[in-house]
Amino acid sequence: MHHFSYRDGALFAEDVDLRRIADEVGTPVYVYSSATIERHYRLYAEAMTRAAGDGKAHVFYAMKANGNLGVLKTLASLGAGADTVSEGEVRKALAAGFPPERLVFSGVGKSESELRFAVEAGIYQVNIETESELDLLSRVASQLGKRQEAVFRVNPDIGAGGHAKITTGSSENKFGVSFEEVGRLYARAANLPGVRMMGLALHIGSQIRETESFEAAYAKMATLVGELRGEGHRVERLDLGGGLGIPYDIPKEFDHGPGLIEAYADMVARVTKGLEVELGFEPGRLIVGNAGILMTRVLHLNPRPSKQFLVVDAAMNDLVRPAMYEAYHEIWPVAEPKPGTPDIAYDVVGPICESGDTFTTGRVLPALKPGDLIAFMTAGAYGASMASTYNQRLLVPEVLVKGAEFAVTRPRQTFEQLLGTDRAPPWLA
Ligand code: LLP
Repeated sequence: MHHFSYRDGALFAEDVDLRRIADEVGTPVYVYSSATIERHYRLYAEAMTRAAGDGKAHVFYAMKANGNLGVLKTLASLGAGADTVSEGEVRKALAAGFPPERLVFSGVGKSESELRFAVEAGIYQVNIETESELDLLSRVASQLGKRQEAVFRVNPDIGAGGHAKITTGSSENKFGVSFEEVGRLYARAANLPGVRMMGLALHIGSQIRETESFEAAYAKMATLVGELRGEGHRVERLDLGGGLGIPYDIPKEFDHGPGLIEAYADMVARVTKGLEVELGFEPGRLIVGNAGILMTRVLHLNPRPSKQFLVVDAAMNDLVRPAMYEAYHEIWPVAEPKPGTPDIAYDVVGPICESGDTFTTGRVLPALKPGDLIAFMTAGAYGASMASTYNQRLLVPEVLVKGAEFAVTRPRQTFEQLLGTDRAPPWLA
């Protein structure tokens, strides 16, 4: 469920008329609903706590999905931890108020300086993905006089996901140490002064809308836990990753409901029963996906004999998912269409100079005209966080709504900021 709905003829985010935000902040603009973020976080955290039974469940929000300060502060205040993948994310999580002891550092290629920063900050756990990272982490931590708690991210050779580019768990993917290597690496780690191995992690992919592939991967991990313990290793934590998907093709009255989350929690409870590990989770999309929209204004209509282009002021640099993954986003007009408005099939495109800058083709929408506002729904995850300044376009602003209030939590970039970071080479200055 989300908190975007029609009221008095217009689309509202909670109790805020989106036309007000368009007037005051301009377009394109991302708008997030606090109530939706809270609802999804609570549903998820409560279900995973139940799944953990007598053990502990830790939820580390995968902030790559949406690193907006307002979103992060909302989640930090609810008690969430954060899953980070770069020094920038660690810094931003700390700035947003996540305590270091609720931070996990994942990622396939962490550098020495990134590891140093994270260890010095006192984070909870590093998810190690290669043997050389194990050595590097131990060296960095011992130089700081510390022993960093860590887990091995294992590649379970079971991948899943809504698109090949977001599948991570197959042995063909770059992620994690191979299943066969974990025992040897665990044994090596025992002799290293700067790390303390606490367990295992995995993450098999994103936008996964069933529980079978998770179950197959988790069952493999459960067996591995037993094997490692048999070899005398300490395995106290199992970080099960993120990846649970959300519905993108939402009919207007759709209630997202807890169905898939509950089924996933039941499966986790079944597969991890008796393992006596603390469970970790790294959800991203599930927490913020339905909590955000990208609002854009129609600039022009470009009719052709065979089709009708709708040119809007948002582009692939603002929301790259359709261009990159052929992703589907519902489009809702901000002004509720009057009865009798004809339906027209549009190719909805942005102003960027390549044909890939297409949000959708042949989408049937109530007739629109220049100046009208539309919303790309379910754009809260991997929307603004993947935005760029391609075509020297300004980074898109972000707004957080709470009840009848809204705040610009990231103003639109200015042209001074955009141009001000460049430096001319001395021979051309
Ligand atoms: N943990 C790790 C180690 C990850 O790599 C990811 C996402 C997550 C957690 C969170 O996964 P989620 O719960 O959000 O599925 N840009 C793509 C999605 C890329 C996901 C990358 N890793 C998209 O727009 O669909």
